[in-house]
Amino acid sequence: MPPTNPLTLIVATTPIPTREKTLLGIGLNGTLPWPRIKADMSFFARVTSRSPRPGTTNAMIMGRKTYDSVPKSLRPLGKRINVVVTRDASGNVSRRVLEELEGKKAKLAAAAASTAVQNKDDGSVTDAIVSSGLEAALETVDKRFNGMLGNVFVIGGAEIYAAALRLGGDRPIRIVMTNVEKKEEDGEKAGFECDTFFPVDEALLLEKGWKKASAEEVTEWVGEPVSSEWKDEGDIRIQMVGYKRVN
Ligand SMILES: NC(=O)c1ccc[n+]([C@@H]2O[C@H](COP(=O)([O-])OP(=O)(O)OC[C@H]3O[C@@H](n4cnc5c(N)ncnc54)[C@H](OP(=O)(O)O)[C@@H]3O)[C@@H](O)[C@H]2O)c1
Repeated sequence: MPPTNPLTLIVATTPIPTREKTLLGIGLNGTLPWPRIKADMSFFARVTSRSPRPGTTNAMIMGRKTYDSVPKSLRPLGKRINVVVTRDASGNVSRRVLEELEGKKAKLAAAAASTAVQNKDDGSVTDAIVSSGLEAALETVDKRFNGMLGNVFVIGGAEIYAAALRLGGDRPIRIVMTNVEKKEEDGEKAGFECDTFFPVDEALLLEKGWKKASAEEVTEWVGEPVSSEWKDEGDIRIQMVGYKRVN
């Protein structure tokens, strides 16, 4: 049966000009290169947790380092299937993630019991899976959550984005990208230092069979209005753009 769920890469990048080309920075020292951007973090939380139909849950596939970059008190992230990709064959990563899932479930149960007025339940679940690669991860969520799987996201980092961009097959693949820039200081363009980069820049994407998506298309993918206008947050500005693989 052909896969029906499109795969959406969700990423925030900042331009790093080099002599040859502009790289797209995504990380520094195991975390994000910029201070907390409230608008982008809440966009990420809404988009990844909003399931397309009641009774379904979205999956987020991530590398083990990206999972570890989420504060321990928050992971695995609630109301989503957290899929952690690792080469660890000792079982240590798996044990740790499943222990953290049990802790999270206990916290959620305690919070639900102590809340007099319950939040309206959309039927989504909090879950975590450990997988040995991206393709195995996709196969597992498709099978295990058959009929209950919502949207499928790849949330980084660089290694997993690269694997997603290499995927063959006829599964539609899209990128929802937040462009992050520091506002100019005294006419000087100041950037963020980065040590981890999105595997391709826009020029290469467009060369390799990708197309820029319209704001309407991105709006449809994420389930809320998205415009490509720049928005200011303190001394940072952000813009949402989308790309789709066309061949
Ligand atoms: N700006 C953004 O939107 C964004 C999004 C996500 C992450 N980030 C940043 O990106 C950085 C992390 O990215 P990263 O590239 O260093 O790490 P990553 O992709 O998050 O994780 C790498 C790890 O994933 C596992 N892995 C990767 N490819 C695999 C494969 N093909 N098969 C099996 N396992 C595989 C390995 O885990 P094991 O070592 O356990 O074997 C590997 O060490 C952080 O700075 C983070 O904050 C930024």
